[in-house]
Amino acid sequence: MLQEVDTLYAAHVAELARRSDTALAATGFDRLVVYSGRPQYQFQDDRPYPFAVNPHFKQWVPITDAPDCCVEYTPGQRPRLLFHQPADYWHRPPQLPPGDWQRSIDVEILREPGDARALLDAGRGRTALVGEPPPEFADWGYAASNPPALLARLHYERAVKTPYELACMRLASSIGARGHVAARDAYFGGASEFEAHLAYCAATGLTEGELPYGNIVAYDESAAVLHYQHLDRARDRPRRSFLIDAGAHFRGYASDITRTWSTDQGEFAALVAAMDHVQQALCAGVRPGRDYRDLHLEAHLRIGRVLAEAGIVRCGADTAVAERITSVFFPHGIGHLLGLQVHDVAGLAGDPSGTEIPRPDGHPFLRLTRVLQPGWVVTVEPGLYFIDLLLDEARADGRGRQIDWTTVARLKPFGGIRIEDDVACTAGTPENLTRDAFAALA
Ligand code: GLY
Ligand code: MN
Ligand code: MN
Repeated sequence: MLQEVDTLYAAHVAELARRSDTALAATGFDRLVVYSGRPQYQFQDDRPYPFAVNPHFKQWVPITDAPDCCVEYTPGQRPRLLFHQPADYWHRPPQLPPGDWQRSIDVEILREPGDARALLDAGRGRTALVGEPPPEFADWGYAASNPPALLARLHYERAVKTPYELACMRLASSIGARGHVAARDAYFGGASEFEAHLAYCAATGLTEGELPYGNIVAYDESAAVLHYQHLDRARDRPRRSFLIDAGAHFRGYASDITRTWSTDQGEFAALVAAMDHVQQALCAGVRPGRDYRDLHLEAHLRIGRVLAEAGIVRCGADTAVAERITSVFFPHGIGHLLGLQVHDVAGLAGDPSGTEIPRPDGHPFLRLTRVLQPGWVVTVEPGLYFIDLLLDEARADGRGRQIDWTTVARLKPFGGIRIEDDVACTAGTPENLTRDAFAALA
């Protein structure tokens, strides 16, 4: 599998070079230097925060754990990696990952971060730096740090994944699916939220710091907290329902997966099944030419039908959407671009200069407003929650007249439902990376 990914890397680098050529020419630069970053330290302490590498850097090279490295790219030349590998007996110095990928790129080893200065010789031409520059870069002669016009172009094109990136994301999905199966088994076996989280990490082989985002592991009412970050240690609790939103990384590419489980058959289990149907219908809509804003609005309509059929609202789906009642139960966007970052960049960019496509009125949290194209990977994550804050608002502003409060009271102890897959848009039938990964395990 690794070799398969490696064979795609040369074409990936060629595509990054092509995109960079266009972006540099359009914005008046001669060369790109992409800096990996440097750990940040906690206040008055010698302990760093977990290191998160510059996403641009890990797009060029499959390295996610090495500070003070640079990738240099000049149009017409091979890219060059300046790999910082200090002589250090306190830590294990970063290692170059093995593999054929090194054939596509020149590598120089740096013993000190400052060694990069002479190697980069920044006096030549107009060089754009991409990354968070450390203070000493100030007088190295870069024409600009993170010029917005250049970044807008690179970000805009990043939506289209290369075959290498798609292969990495399939693997990130497989790893995530393994974790989800282990966490589900832990839940049904009596584990606490904390223990289900540990089971997830063990099955994926990833430390917490290597996950693309903090796992959301929520039992019962906690499933109504959209980004629930607490990990309850108690085993002895009702355990009616389990929502887990957890992803994985492969070579810096993310998966982002949510599943919801009901302990018993019954009203909540039926609601989960109904939401699964909604989610699958929406996944089928990931087609080239589809405006993602329409997919989001379609989700509201479909969730409105579920709310009506379950007796949660007293009106029809059209009224529930028109009167913003669906937003009480589904208050987030239907999904987002996925890749090097979980909520990947340029979700609102209507063109290479980054002109924003507005969100539909009344939908402030939608993260993607563009028209889908082959090669993109997006999440599709409809939800239905019983959130006190939003229910109270609806009660106060009159929307509550359309809500059946007895049904809400019965379902509230289950918290909520979210089902999230990662879906690649193709010229034809969409590729569901998540469902394929679960199917391969079954
Ligand atoms: N895991 C965060 C999200 O689904 O967007
Ligand atoms: Mn997501
Ligand atoms: Mn998620």
